[in-house]
Amino acid sequence: MTWNPLALPNAVGKTIAVTGANAGIGYFASEQFASAGAHVILACRDPERAEAAISAIRRRVPGASVEAMPIDVSDRGSVARAAASLVEREGLDVLLLNAGIVHAPRARATDAVGNELVLSTNVIGHFQLTALAMPVLERTPGARVVSLGSLATLLARFPLDDLQQEESYDSWHAYARSKIAVQAFGFELARRLRAAGSDVSSLVAHPGYSTSGRTPGIRGVNQPSHAKRFVDNLQAAWTQGKDRGALTAVRAALDPDAVSGQFYGPRAVTKGAPVASWATPTTRSPRVGARLWSLLEEYSGQRFEIG
Ligand SMILES: NC(=O)c1ccc[n+]([C@@H]2O[C@H](COP(=O)([O-])OP(=O)(O)OC[C@H]3O[C@@H](n4cnc5c(N)ncnc54)[C@H](OP(=O)(O)O)[C@@H]3O)[C@@H](O)[C@H]2O)c1
Repeated sequence: MTWNPLALPNAVGKTIAVTGANAGIGYFASEQFASAGAHVILACRDPERAEAAISAIRRRVPGASVEAMPIDVSDRGSVARAAASLVEREGLDVLLLNAGIVHAPRARATDAVGNELVLSTNVIGHFQLTALAMPVLERTPGARVVSLGSLATLLARFPLDDLQQEESYDSWHAYARSKIAVQAFGFELARRLRAAGSDVSSLVAHPGYSTSGRTPGIRGVNQPSHAKRFVDNLQAAWTQGKDRGALTAVRAALDPDAVSGQFYGPRAVTKGAPVASWATPTTRSPRVGARLWSLLEEYSGQRFEIG
């Protein structure tokens, strides 16, 4: 089937949870899911920003079915509470692991239990959330977990013995390695689900290069300054808005022909329509995936067994 991002399949009856849904790609993915008729759970850390996003979706998508759910993905207790609320539901068709620190802090920071903050936010919290949400995903026919990868995975090494950057910290490596870990987790999850004969799928999508200055202005959600618009528009040849950046994740979540382990990216690498894409051997490696899985169990304090 050819995929038309402007004519999404009917998603009435589906429940979709999106982390980091109050801004950027998470917001636009949520809006697109709502426009297809899904019930969307906007999982956000700030209640006011979540409400602003909900109001915006209701303004832009008449009749949208949306609700907020509190979660700070860098806080183990908050993730556990959010997962418990998901597990109480009748079903969860898609769990979109989108929240992330994109601009890593210059100096190494940690979460409350000492994990490096970018790794904690982008990877460890999502690993814990997925592990704890498995019961509701398992009882929802055709459920999917979608992880947000990045082109940054092409540009960095992945030293599994120093993921927390305890020896020497570098903000670029913190981000790039976190995204390598996200992709490796998504593909390892697909392998483990398949080996266990599970009906749940795991897919990975990267949004190319999507900037807020190229994104429609939406009150309370995306209000870049004139200077930001000007600078971002200078890069228009190879960038897109976050509304378009969301298209790959939305395809991974809703395309009936998508299969577990698939990777989507924009057609012109940094921008464009969502198509099947190429992921680095490191992120596809079963050896890397298995080692990473044990590390994430250790860092999150969460065993994650499937089947
Ligand atoms: N934009 C790109 O070109 C690009 C490229 C490759 C990959 N990605 C990936 O796409 C995802 C979204 O990126 P984006 O550009 O849309 O970023 P963004 O506009 O900065 O939005 C990030 C979202 O994550 C939320 N978040 C951050 N830390 C959180 C935490 N501890 N708990 C809960 N939510 C948290 C933010 O909430 P607050 O508003 O509360 O901070 C916000 O809603 C990220 O995973 C990123 O790595 C983006």
